[in-house]
Amino acid sequence: MKTVYLETFGCQMNELDSELVRGHLESLGYAFTAEPKDADVLLFNTCSVREHAESKAYSRVGIVGKRKRAGEKLILGVLGCMAERDGVDMLRRYPQIDLLCGPGELDKLPMLIDNVVRTTALEISTMNDVQDRVALAGNTSRRSAALSASADDLETLDLARAFDPDRATSGVRSAYVRITRGCNKFCTYCVVPYTRGAEVHRPPDSIVEECRRLAASGVIEVTLLGQTVNHYRYTHGVAVTLDGREQPQIGPGLSAFRNETIEDPNLTTFAKLLARIHDEVPELARIRFLTSYPKDFGDDVLQVMASRPRICRYLHVPVQSGSNRILKLMNRGYTVEEYLQFTDRVLEVLPDASIAGDIIVGFPTETDEDFELTKDLLRRVPFKNNFIFKYSPRPGTTAITRFEDDVPLAVKKLRNNELLVLQAEIGAAVHADWVGREVEVLVERLTNRSPIAHGAPSAADPRVSLGTALAPPMRGPRDEGSELAVQVSGRTPGDLITVFQVPTREQAQQLLGTIVRVRIEGSGPLILHGKMVDVDAALQNELRH
Ligand code: SAH
Ligand code: SF4
Ligand code: F3S
Repeated sequence: MKTVYLETFGCQMNELDSELVRGHLESLGYAFTAEPKDADVLLFNTCSVREHAESKAYSRVGIVGKRKRAGEKLILGVLGCMAERDGVDMLRRYPQIDLLCGPGELDKLPMLIDNVVRTTALEISTMNDVQDRVALAGNTSRRSAALSASADDLETLDLARAFDPDRATSGVRSAYVRITRGCNKFCTYCVVPYTRGAEVHRPPDSIVEECRRLAASGVIEVTLLGQTVNHYRYTHGVAVTLDGREQPQIGPGLSAFRNETIEDPNLTTFAKLLARIHDEVPELARIRFLTSYPKDFGDDVLQVMASRPRICRYLHVPVQSGSNRILKLMNRGYTVEEYLQFTDRVLEVLPDASIAGDIIVGFPTETDEDFELTKDLLRRVPFKNNFIFKYSPRPGTTAITRFEDDVPLAVKKLRNNELLVLQAEIGAAVHADWVGREVEVLVERLTNRSPIAHGAPSAADPRVSLGTALAPPMRGPRDEGSELAVQVSGRTPGDLITVFQVPTREQAQQLLGTIVRVRIEGSGPLILHGKMVDVDAALQNELRH
């Protein structure tokens, strides 16, 4: 049987897709390895959102090419958004790639691998058998009737998710749950609507059931995923299969968001979905969601959050720019003033809420004045962090055809750095506000003495590099009066990274995946640090469970 190495690039959607692919292949008998050298099937689940993301994957493809040319018998598959965006042309340019599988076709992956194995064994692999090695939605299928059928297959993949009964003891007690696929927004710079297709909402019953099963297998935190989670809407009974099951639904037009106050018993809105998960799966200690769109975020969602304590007061709600002119060119559909009204509304209803976002610098025609407006906006909102990206023209998007990429790279870099420094100041103030308070922390990893050096979320995560540079010096083990003191890190319900020390490595291991109380004593631009409240009681408590 084959051994698979699967590497994931890109967003949380891709992480979830990789988890589902892994579960699917494992159920068919494939083994997995963390070492590319030990694998005979190498799969890269790729991202197309910026050129940099693609170059990383291409460099891996190059390495595998060398190994294949040196005579190693390997199967190389490119999955995800890059496969969908580049299409079969990629096979011509990189003959070492054996199969392509778009993000909407992942249920077909085992069949593609089988086909490659068969044709390779018969040594008949040519460009003629391409259709057997490629599963892509293709641009033409967007909004076609075929979409709902393929979405339904994908629904099966989500539903067939492996629920690992060892999860409860493995320390991994956090899971992603998809609520919406695709995106209908067509921001002019963005490839996602082309790679992931039209917005499709999963039936709420499937989502609640998945949460329930995850909780039963030991998960205590779920993060609901969608490109624009607040656009989730499901009208019951509209699409019912012959055997009475409801099919996922293609998202409605934005007009559906008007008259939101009308109570329709057949409609599940995002607010209702959140409330259902909270109320029907009480074992979940934390319910979070990513990513929110600044428009169409109703007060109903805020009210549900305010009245249900286990829904995390954390909003990732990218603003992208502080200039109305640039927002318009980006086709974001809101103004700076509307964004500010939204964040004010959030903080009024949920004063403790953490707000995070994304910014693009150097969008075509962005002037110094536009950039100053972005800085003004940053100063106006207490952002706990912002991911800052340099505009990267993406093939197939409206922006690349309509606008010249006229902001020089040197200017993009300068603006990027300037925003990082400003965001560090803002983040420092947001985090400093928590000093002296007690917070609940879901313990995620041992970090040794440096909070960042080990087990950081991802080397590409700007939070991490900034955290390394600006985190306060960590006290050594001796400060705690023990040779063995170990530093651990986790997150508050508002997604604030928190580090603290525990007396021994063994105790730290025991606390992984549990929620503990920490008294905050200090802070940095991206980090809180403090002392665990009543270590002994927490450990006793954990030992009893
Ligand atoms: N659906 C989410 C974002 C998904 S992509 C939303 O609308 O908020 C994640 C982030 O990548 C975006 O928020 C944007 O800041 C950035 N991004 C997307 N396309 C980009 C491009 N062509 N160049 C630079 N950054 C880009
Ligand atoms: Fe891309 Fe815009 Fe959709 Fe986000 S909302 S995925 S930025 S098109
Ligand atoms: Fe990248 Fe596709 Fe996600 S382009 S950001 S992996 S949806």
